[in-house]
Amino acid sequence: MKKLVLALLLALAVPAAPQTQPQTAADPWWKHAVIYEIYPRSFQDSNGDGMGDLNGITSRLDYLKNLGIDAIWITPFYPSPQIDYGYDIADYKAIDPEYGTMADFDRLVSEAKKRNIRVLLDFVMNHTSDQNAWFKESRSSKANPKRDWYVWRDGKNGGPPNNWLSWFGGPAWTLDPKTNQYYYHYFYAEQPDLNWRNPEVKKAMFDVIRFWLDRGAAGFRIDAVSRLYEDPNLHDDPILPGRNAYGDPNIEHKYTDNLPEVHDTLRELRALVDTYAGNPVLISEADQPNIAELTKMYGAKLDEIQLPMDFQIADVNQLSAAKFRKLLDEVEHNSAGGQPHYFFSNHDQPRQWDRYGDGKNNDQIAKLMAALLLMPRATPQMYYGEELGMRTTPPARVEDVKDPIGKKGWPEEKGRDGERTPMQWDSSKNAGFSTAAKTWLWIPPTFSTYNVTAESKDPNSILNFYKRLIALRRSNPAIRDGNYVSVNQDDANVLSFLRKGEGESVLVALNMSGQAQSVKFDLAAQGVKQPRARVLLAAPASPTDSVALNDVTIPAFGVVIATVK
Ligand code: NOJ
Repeated sequence: MKKLVLALLLALAVPAAPQTQPQTAADPWWKHAVIYEIYPRSFQDSNGDGMGDLNGITSRLDYLKNLGIDAIWITPFYPSPQIDYGYDIADYKAIDPEYGTMADFDRLVSEAKKRNIRVLLDFVMNHTSDQNAWFKESRSSKANPKRDWYVWRDGKNGGPPNNWLSWFGGPAWTLDPKTNQYYYHYFYAEQPDLNWRNPEVKKAMFDVIRFWLDRGAAGFRIDAVSRLYEDPNLHDDPILPGRNAYGDPNIEHKYTDNLPEVHDTLRELRALVDTYAGNPVLISEADQPNIAELTKMYGAKLDEIQLPMDFQIADVNQLSAAKFRKLLDEVEHNSAGGQPHYFFSNHDQPRQWDRYGDGKNNDQIAKLMAALLLMPRATPQMYYGEELGMRTTPPARVEDVKDPIGKKGWPEEKGRDGERTPMQWDSSKNAGFSTAAKTWLWIPPTFSTYNVTAESKDPNSILNFYKRLIALRRSNPAIRDGNYVSVNQDDANVLSFLRKGEGESVLVALNMSGQAQSVKFDLAAQGVKQPRARVLLAAPASPTDSVALNDVTIPAFGVVIATVK
C-alpha cells in the first residue's frame, strides 16, 4: 500500500508540460533549452513504408512537449541518394520525398511552435552529394564555371595528389576519368568537398541558411565544421603507428582539420544568423582534440558558435568521477564565457547505455548519466530513445548492414546502424514505429519493456527520471541560472558539484562506483550554513526528505540532488 501511494505521488510529481521562459539577447533561449536529436528515418513512420518521416515527427510533438523538450535538431531530410543517409545532399532547398513535402515541413514548424518547441536543422556545409547539380556541373569539364566549387587537383606519380585519407576509409581523392583529375572528399567518394576558398560557394551556402531561417528554422547543427578547409599546398599528413579498421595506416589529419580559415567563415555565418530575430543558434559538430581547440569554436569575441558540441565529455567512456570532474572543471574555467554543450549519444556513436553501463546496473547507470547530462551548467543535447534506455543493437550479419562503413570495415567496424534503430514507442508490432511488414532497420529485442508506453506508467522508469530532471532544470533557479562549482575534489568515486544560486544552492552528488558511498560535505566556504540538505530528487529514491551534510549515503551508481542553504 505504502509503495502504491509513493508510486502515485511520484507519478503526479512529473509535470505534464514545460513552462515558457522569457528570453533576452543576453539570456537567450538556447542557454536554458534541452535539445533533442531526431534521426528522422527512425523516429516515427506515418505512411507505412518502414521509414520515419516529417509527419511522423509532427505526430509525436506532444510526447516531446510532455518530456520537456525545447528544441529538436533533425538530421538531414533533404533530397539525397542516401549513401550517407542524408549527409550527402543533392538539393539544399527541398525535402526528400521519403520524408515528405515542404508543406509537411511548414506544418511541423508551426505545430512545434504552438508547443514552444524550436526546430533546428542540420547544415552540411563541408560537402555535397556527387548527385548535387553543382557537382554534376563541376565534373562536366575543366572549363565549367562551377569547376572551382569543389577541390580538383592533378594526380602525382600516377596516383592521388597526396596521402590524405578519407575518414571513412581509403584515399580522400577519387579520379574522375572525364577530366582526368582527382576530387577531394573527406568522407565517402559520393560526398565531394566544397571549395570554401571560392566566394561563390559561400554565397550559395549562406543563401541556404537564409532559405531555412525564412521558413522558421531556429538554428543549425553544422556538420563536420572543422573540415571546411584544406591546406592549399597539399602537404602530406603525418603517418602514425598502426592501422585503422579499414586497413589504412593511421594518420594525423593535420592539413585538413581545424585550419584557421574555419573561424573566418564561422564569424561570417554567425553575423548572418544574428541578423534574424529570435536568437537563432549555431551548434558545431567538431570532435575537437582538447578543450583549448573546443573553446576556439566560440570565437575570440564569442562571435562564432554558441554551442560547440563537447566530444571530450561525451567520450570519456568510463564511469570515472576524476575524469569527468577534470573535464567539467576545465570547460568551466576555459570556455571564455561561452555556454558548454554536453551530450553522450548521437547517430554516430554507440549509445551511452552500452558505453557506460556495466551490464548489471544499466537502468541505474542510465539515470546517473541523465543527471550528469542535465544538472551541470550547460545546454544538454539528448538523442532520441536515450530517455528510455535504448541500447545499441548492431547488425548481426554483414548482409544486414546499411551504413557503408560497416560493410567496408566488417567485422571490426560494424557501422552506425546499431545506434539508429527505430524509436521504441510501445510493445506492439514494430514497437509502434511503423505498420510496415519490414522496417528499414531492425527493432531491438528490448522494445517490449523499454518503450514509452510502459515507462510512462512506471514511476521508477528511466523516462520518468528524465522528466523529473528536466522539470527541475526549469523550475529551480539555482539549476537554471547558478554557477557550477566543483566540490569534494579528491573523491575518487563520487562526482559532486554545486549549482550556486542566490540564497539557495543545489548540491548534485553522483556515485560513479558500484558500492554505496558515505560522503561528507563541508560547504561552509560556499556560504552554506545549514547542516542538512533538502532532497529534491534521488535515484534510487531517498528514504528521507533531508540528509545530514556530514554523512550522506549514496547507493551504488546513485544520484542525490538536494538544496543547501
Ligand atoms: C558527421 C555526421 O554526423 C555523420 O553522420 C556523417 O557521416 C559525417 N558527418 C559526414 O557528413
